[in-house]
Amino acid sequence: MQGMEQILQKGAAMSHNDLVRLLALPKDESKVLFDYSRKVKEEAVGSRVYFRGLIEFSNICAKDCLYCGIRRSNIHTARYNLTDEEILQAARYAWEQNYASIVLQAGELFSEAFSKRIEGLLRKIHQQTQGNLRVTLSLGEQSEDTYQRWFDAGAHRYLLRIETSNPELYHRIHPSDALHSYAIRLKALESLRKVGYQTGTGVMIGLPFQTLEDLANDLIFMRDFGIDMVGMGPYLEHEHTPLYDERGRLWPMMDRFDMALKMIALLRISMPKINIAAATALQAIDKMGREKAIRIGANVIMPNITPGSYRNSYKLYDNKPCTDENAEDCTNCLQARVGMTGNSIGFGEWGDSGYYRERNLI
Ligand code: 5AD
Ligand code: FES
Repeated sequence: MQGMEQILQKGAAMSHNDLVRLLALPKDESKVLFDYSRKVKEEAVGSRVYFRGLIEFSNICAKDCLYCGIRRSNIHTARYNLTDEEILQAARYAWEQNYASIVLQAGELFSEAFSKRIEGLLRKIHQQTQGNLRVTLSLGEQSEDTYQRWFDAGAHRYLLRIETSNPELYHRIHPSDALHSYAIRLKALESLRKVGYQTGTGVMIGLPFQTLEDLANDLIFMRDFGIDMVGMGPYLEHEHTPLYDERGRLWPMMDRFDMALKMIALLRISMPKINIAAATALQAIDKMGREKAIRIGANVIMPNITPGSYRNSYKLYDNKPCTDENAEDCTNCLQARVGMTGNSIGFGEWGDSGYYRERNLI
């Protein structure tokens, strides 16, 4: 592509047109993009990669997203819910391994009992780790009041993917009812920021009906929102979901993978100081998927520390990796893998988003 360097140097000022052109780069020309994003990453966030121990504590979900394997209507999934003690034990494990951060993720539930449970868990986690763990929540859309209560109980980061910034596409991949509304999703993301969380979002890449224009808009959405952290990965079809019927229109798996890497590279160039996670979905396609993402822009990885026997049941998509391993295997495996990329793990470091820190100084 002519003038590619010049376009890349625009950084945060890359236009929608520029982004579409770069996303359309053929494979043999994307090296320039990846070399550039690697440089930006090194300069902005260095070669440290941060661990977030992921605890998928329940797959019981009130929602029915058309792409997701743990959707309410999927009768083929055995539902589980870890006990508080099991969750606390996993959190202790993360602390003992010097992870410094954990993520509590589960299907979406909306009730006072659930809000209370999370509040209690947060307090106990901080008690037993002497406030040394950063806790991220990934528990879907909640009221601002609930977000505030959880923040006050010690959760300071929250992940809520927008899934796609195109409202029309959003509605195509969700049931059409009040529980699944783009407007509410967006409002929830705004509430999180207002409450003061380090706010994370993300999208799925390679959804049926999605275009390069949509993906360019996703990047602009994250930039204009001023998001602190992002986790995004390829869409992977799940057999027992309605969106599986559209698999005929999907890009080939490898194209979805390559597009996810380009999205990560372009996001790093547009927002040099944010935290970007190497999504597990990347590894479902390519055994070295997460490592490739780290090379070209990601700086966070989420080892699964859910007790092994439950991992098989938290399947959002087919071929989820690492479902047979136990937590210790994942730590060792990931440490070696990250080492291979020339990066090192920031054990014992919180690894807050540099972007978040800067926007709070102003
Ligand atoms: N393929 C890829 N990602 C998925 N997610 C849910 N289902 C799938 C799927 N089939 C992602 C969504 C959600 C996150 C927890 O997992 O983006 O926000
Ligand atoms: Fe789980 Fe490698 S990350 S075994």
